[in-house]
Amino acid sequence: MSQIRNPLTAPMMKKIIKVIEGKEKADLAILHGDIVDVYTGKIIKDHSVAVKGDWIAYINSDISQTIGPDTAVIDASGKILIPGMIDSHTHMVYYSAPWEAIRYLVPGGTTTIITEIMEISYTMGYNGLLQYLEALKDQPIKMFITVPPPISLSKSVYSITPNKSELKKLLRRDDVLGLGESYWQHILKDDKLYADLAQESLRLGKTIEGHTAGAHGSKLESYLAYGVSSCHEPVNADDVLERLRLGCFVMIREGSMRRDLEEISKINKMDIDYHHLAISTDGIDPGELITTGYMETVLQKAIDVGFDPIKAIQMVTLNPARHFRLDSYTGGIGLSKHADIVIIPDLKTIKAEYVISKGEIVARNGKLTAPVKKAPLPDTALNDYINKVSPAQFSIPCQKTGTVSVRVMDQVTDLVTRDAIMPMTARNGELNIDTTRDILKVTLITRQNKIVNAFIRGYKLKTGAVASSNAWENFGVLAVGVSEQDIALAVNHLLSMGGGIVVADGGKILAELPLPIGGLISKLSIEEIVDRLSQINKAAKSIGFPFPDLPKTIAVLTTPAIPFLRLSEDGLYDLKTNKIVDLITG
Ligand SMILES: [Fe+2]
Repeated sequence: MSQIRNPLTAPMMKKIIKVIEGKEKADLAILHGDIVDVYTGKIIKDHSVAVKGDWIAYINSDISQTIGPDTAVIDASGKILIPGMIDSHTHMVYYSAPWEAIRYLVPGGTTTIITEIMEISYTMGYNGLLQYLEALKDQPIKMFITVPPPISLSKSVYSITPNKSELKKLLRRDDVLGLGESYWQHILKDDKLYADLAQESLRLGKTIEGHTAGAHGSKLESYLAYGVSSCHEPVNADDVLERLRLGCFVMIREGSMRRDLEEISKINKMDIDYHHLAISTDGIDPGELITTGYMETVLQKAIDVGFDPIKAIQMVTLNPARHFRLDSYTGGIGLSKHADIVIIPDLKTIKAEYVISKGEIVARNGKLTAPVKKAPLPDTALNDYINKVSPAQFSIPCQKTGTVSVRVMDQVTDLVTRDAIMPMTARNGELNIDTTRDILKVTLITRQNKIVNAFIRGYKLKTGAVASSNAWENFGVLAVGVSEQDIALAVNHLLSMGGGIVVADGGKILAELPLPIGGLISKLSIEEIVDRLSQINKAAKSIGFPFPDLPKTIAVLTTPAIPFLRLSEDGLYDLKTNKIVDLITG
């Protein structure tokens, strides 16, 4: 059985022994710090760490025999040493190229990332995934992926996503830690491919990342029966407890999609073991990343809402490392482990003064000091797939006369939709937009050029249209507008950029973010991306959009991950019944 590779070589083992014996000198010595020992859950006072190459080569109160004239020395007296932090579940594909995000991930003390990668799978296929993996290699921090199982509501996307044998090939790679998140309802409905992939992941000693939002009792157990080993969807302490008791590793989510730490901090009253618990972001959007930070902010919040600091540190270091079988070389300050170390001023202040990753000082006082690697990303623009559109293609025909009942997607929060049955009257064989009742058109254009039109309310646009090629697990184009002309303008402009996000009004483009790499990733710097996103939200607000984050709200209209009524290539999809439902209901 293959295990995830530990990169410690035989010559390096011998070098480490020589350093311990003082026969070879360390490259770096960190002196007199208080080490948070995540293995025992205690602090080891006034201890020093010698580093050779990527590795921790000696830990002792006196490491003077390892220090030579060329050894770099950090005096950590009065400071705390914690292991480099691990984000155990994230989405790196958040508009920016990976190296743009890494510039901001590293200075806070994150040294390992495990990212989902479905976005690349659905847009750029197997070859795109291979190329993206190359871009994650040789960065200042460790980057791993989980491979995405096919879980789209739209079956046609499977012509782009990797096939079963390609997914199995991916699972065998050292930089792939398991099978990625899969929504439980979807799997319980159709497990043909999934059961096989899950078995392969377990056989290889890897994990199966879960997604159990809203699942309880026998439904939860039926899903976990596939060997699903984690979940990052619990929203309260009872959810956490239910999953822990079934042997499911739980990642408490604190990121741009949801913030659950505070509510889940109630587990602190339960007096339970925390070794099967982690904290993950599930993705931080670029604006938040560059302004508020990353895992250091998450860890700080955990401490601030009442988690014991050492337990909280274990939840972002050793615990996730163990879950992903990476603990033989990261997750703690231990001998012959990668020197992934963050120096902070005190146990309750997660502000990295030094970040050491793979033995190298990669950031100091919030500034990146190591180079990030730029690499070519897959050149697969959206207009390679999708043709230009005309307003007539957004017509919704209705043969019935008089008033009919129409199922409208009702955007009740920025993420959740319900169905609203609204009376509408057909004119000239068509159902029309009714801005007086906030009934707008929503359209999904798939990469196979299938156009699916429906109605939506809650967007509150008074004029214009919005369009985005970030439509989860479909990754065609989604648009919402007050007229077919505005929708066509927004979509065609988006296609002219090769993908992106657009706000259009009165024949003009008010704001845009080009995403020419797969319709998902920009070639701009992360700072420029943040600026464009803010222009998009301002422009959307100016035409009536009521929620704070248009790109997020529109992106989830196609995902089976968020309830209740979604848009698929076959029409409106009801996640309560897992069925396509009629647009005209009577
Ligand atoms: Fe996720």
